[in-house]
Amino acid sequence: MKNILGARRAGFMTHLLAIICIARQGRAAAVMRSQQARRKTISGVDLLTASRVKIGGLIMQWRNSADRYGAGLVTLHWLMVVLISCGWLLGQLKDATPRDWHGPVQFLHNSAGLLVLLLLVVRLAWRLADPPPALEPTRFGPAATWAAKLGHGALYVLMLAVPIAGITLIFSAGRPLNVFGLFEIASPWVRDREFGRSVHEVHELLANTLIILAFLHAAAALVHHWVLRDRTLTRMLLPRRAG
Ligand code: HEM
Ligand code: HEM
Repeated sequence: MKNILGARRAGFMTHLLAIICIARQGRAAAVMRSQQARRKTISGVDLLTASRVKIGGLIMQWRNSADRYGAGLVTLHWLMVVLISCGWLLGQLKDATPRDWHGPVQFLHNSAGLLVLLLLVVRLAWRLADPPPALEPTRFGPAATWAAKLGHGALYVLMLAVPIAGITLIFSAGRPLNVFGLFEIASPWVRDREFGRSVHEVHELLANTLIILAFLHAAAALVHHWVLRDRTLTRMLLPRRAG
């Protein structure tokens, strides 16, 4: 009797192990399938490979890969750095220019800011559709990685908040928003001097915070490059050498 029970238990265990093995194989296959699905294909064309262009000895790849930013996000990053810097300088220097320059300088300032807002939407959509590479690990452990993620998040929030405060500032004066000289959006409010003064302060404070944070962020990138000697900065640059 004991032998029969023992044999049944052994048989049950063998079955259980077999089921676990099949389930694990199934899961591994599912993970592989989902990884293959992440390398999106259209009509059998691998989009990651298709987004790669070879120019002389250099490789230009629009999409991100597991270990570096693609040319799409790199271009958006540096274009926005230029626009934000020019926008900030134009905002600061407007009052130092002759009176009849104020209008054109303000127009250029507003246009640079509106372009930042537009490119931000493109950049966030791109990031969602084509996730960027994971941050390079450092000797300072996960706390440093979280600090970097928090810094990037704050930069994104400020890149949104500064132009929105700028638009609110125009509307608070009851003035229409001139969109790249193409059309105007009428202010939904009548002029409110007190509100305008507060929004002006908020816009200036947020813009200065953005610039200070961007300086710290750039300093961190240079520390990565020269002190930690990792690829953080080079993978945010265009393009890479083939082979
Ligand atoms: C990233 C984008 C932007 C940055 C970095 C930025 C930065 C600045 C700075 C530094 C000032 C000067 C503040 C002062 O000392 O008086 C300023 C003023 C101003 N900004 Fe912006 N700004 C941006 C986007 C915008 C946008 C999108 C608009 C509106 C469409 C706008 C409208 C204004 C206005 C109306 C002023 C007040 C100018 C004056 O005092 O006469 N800004 N901005
Ligand atoms: C207005 C100035 C700047 C802003 C608003 C800004 C914003 C950002 C943001 C939001 C990211 C995260 C990208 C993502 O994963 O979606 C990023 C990444 C990066 N930025 Fe900037 N940036 C600025 C200037 C600079 C400068 C001047 C440098 C270089 C000296 C720089 C170097 C980098 C590098 C190397 C990364 C990649 C970080 C990594 O992979 O860990 N940035 N930047």
